[in-house]
Amino acid sequence: MNFHTRKWVKPEDLNPNGTLFGGSLLRWIDEEAAIYAICQLDNQRVVTKFISEINFVSSARQGDIIELGMKATHFGRTSITLRAEVRNKITRKSILTIEKMVFVNLGADGVPAPHGRECIRYADEAYERYRQTVQTSADATAVAAANEAQRQADNEDTSVH
Ligand SMILES: CC(C)(COP(=O)(O)OP(=O)(O)OC[C@H]1O[C@@H](n2cnc3c(N)ncnc32)[C@H](O)[C@@H]1OP(=O)(O)O)[C@@H](O)C(=O)NCCC(=O)NCCS
Repeated sequence: MNFHTRKWVKPEDLNPNGTLFGGSLLRWIDEEAAIYAICQLDNQRVVTKFISEINFVSSARQGDIIELGMKATHFGRTSITLRAEVRNKITRKSILTIEKMVFVNLGADGVPAPHGRECIRYADEAYERYRQTVQTSADATAVAAANEAQRQADNEDTSVH
């Protein structure tokens, strides 16, 4: 499981008991899980479909630094299932676990669409894909510029004759 995101528990995140408010934590988790799903499925149009039992294992206090962890546990046809855990960054004590968070991949029409993914992809692979895309479009731009230069040269030749 990768713990990418750290949060610092601040006064505005507390409940009247002086510990981390569950609603704040769930908002952070849902956002973190959505970002994870977006990166895995390469699609910004993903929505939360299902969240299983949430186990608030222990509390966090003001000033604590906590970290949010995600791992894809299942790739369906249009969905992805994640497991989530939040823990104290320093003590590693578990704060929350969610066994199952299901996100659905949508098409431009807002209807579930197959995502074609089968296994976890890592950040380096995403960067490599991005680099290749940029390289490919740079190549295409270079070819188009060369063609345009050639076309202009041909026109100039025509006007000379
Ligand atoms: C997401 C939504 C489009 C899915 O519609 P749907 O009619 O349930 O779609 P489907 O029946 O085709 O199911 C889509 C996928 O979700 C899965 N799914 C549906 N209900 C599920 C449930 N209760 N638990 C787990 N997975 C579920 C299906 O198994 C399917 O996955 P697969 O293709 O990998 O097998 C629709 O339910 C919706 O718009 N929900 C609201 C989403 C939302 O607003 N979320 C909060 C804000 S992000």
